[in-house]
Amino acid sequence: MGNGLILGIESSCDETAAAVVRAGSDVLSNVVATQMQMHALYGGVVPELASREHLRNIVPVVRESLRQAGIEAKDVDAVAVTAGPGLAGALLVGISYAKAYAYALGKPLIAVNHLEGHIHAVLMEGSESAGSMESEGSTLALVVSGGHTHLYLASLDQGIWSYRNVGRTVDDAAGEAYDKVAKLLGLGYPGGPWVDRLSAFGNPKAVPFRFVEINRGTVDEPSFDFSFSGIKTAVLRYIETHGMKAAIEERRTALEKMASPTLEDVHALCDAETLDLIASFQAAVVGNLIRQTMAAAQHFDVKRIVVSGGVAANRELRSRFETEAGKRGLTVRFPAAAMSTDNAAMIAAAAWPKFAQGEFAGPALNATPQLRLG
Ligand code: KG4
Ligand code: ZN
Repeated sequence: MGNGLILGIESSCDETAAAVVRAGSDVLSNVVATQMQMHALYGGVVPELASREHLRNIVPVVRESLRQAGIEAKDVDAVAVTAGPGLAGALLVGISYAKAYAYALGKPLIAVNHLEGHIHAVLMEGSESAGSMESEGSTLALVVSGGHTHLYLASLDQGIWSYRNVGRTVDDAAGEAYDKVAKLLGLGYPGGPWVDRLSAFGNPKAVPFRFVEINRGTVDEPSFDFSFSGIKTAVLRYIETHGMKAAIEERRTALEKMASPTLEDVHALCDAETLDLIASFQAAVVGNLIRQTMAAAQHFDVKRIVVSGGVAANRELRSRFETEAGKRGLTVRFPAAAMSTDNAAMIAAAAWPKFAQGEFAGPALNATPQLRLG
């Protein structure tokens, strides 16, 4: 198995990332070049600009990941790369580079599903050994980010991970709802962190939002699905019927003039009604995520839940998940903040069992923007 060193590369969205991870859990380096500030100018990710930035960043980011790990390229045992899902052009930058790098080093190339990476972001930091994971049955994984809201049953059997999708959003991802609602309210991009912090100042019970139950499954094979486009529309309607538009435009204009507004700056620009709306939105989204996850946990009789992806950084989500899991005698785990959002350590970690199984990708590896897991 050589040194057990995997170089991971991730470029599926707006982060160019490279990391070196030993044996699937020991993170030697984790370098991320984010393009967030550039995309913030446009209020969202612009695919063409993302690809161009990845091209600019990939060489220095990989070089820096090796430097921080204190190793040379020849020490690497395999190169792992995100094959999908994600933006086609963005994925292609990482894949082309990883292919060329692996070929030049004469080392194997490993294709990783981005969603599997998010799940491993939690598992790799676990104190549990793979052995205990195998004996304890399936783990329920909620991957909740700007692009995904998916529930998986993850199982480990004789060193091989398998995943079964047991729920997903039928429209917007939860992080997307955060970003869209923040935009409606004149807050900056990405909106999740702003909504998270401003929620503390509002009354979460002020505006009652309701979620419709969605289940595409059958009695034998239920599906624990999500929908977040309705709440975005409900927020928009609330804004319109409560005459909030002028104040929102004022806030947007004021924030555009600030290079990097602080929480105090943004808070000062929000009246009580806005803060109540923000807190109510967050309470509704978090409540829905937890309800569906707990229903799935009960149905599949799992004892362990992992929550990952950008929205897993949310403080209310973490604390309420812990409370609800505690009540039911379940374990819930989250990745550290740096591992919640897109990174390459999670890709290198997810590649480790594939390396051990000799599951390598050929030179024909291509980007699969709609790649599914399970
Ligand atoms: O995993 P990630 O970095 O990229 C994707 O794969 O999408 O997730 C980014 C998403 C954005 O929608 C952002 O608004 C959301 O995660 N996010 C949050 C928080 N931090 C990031 N949402 C709610 N609360 C947060 N603290
Ligand atoms: Zn992601």
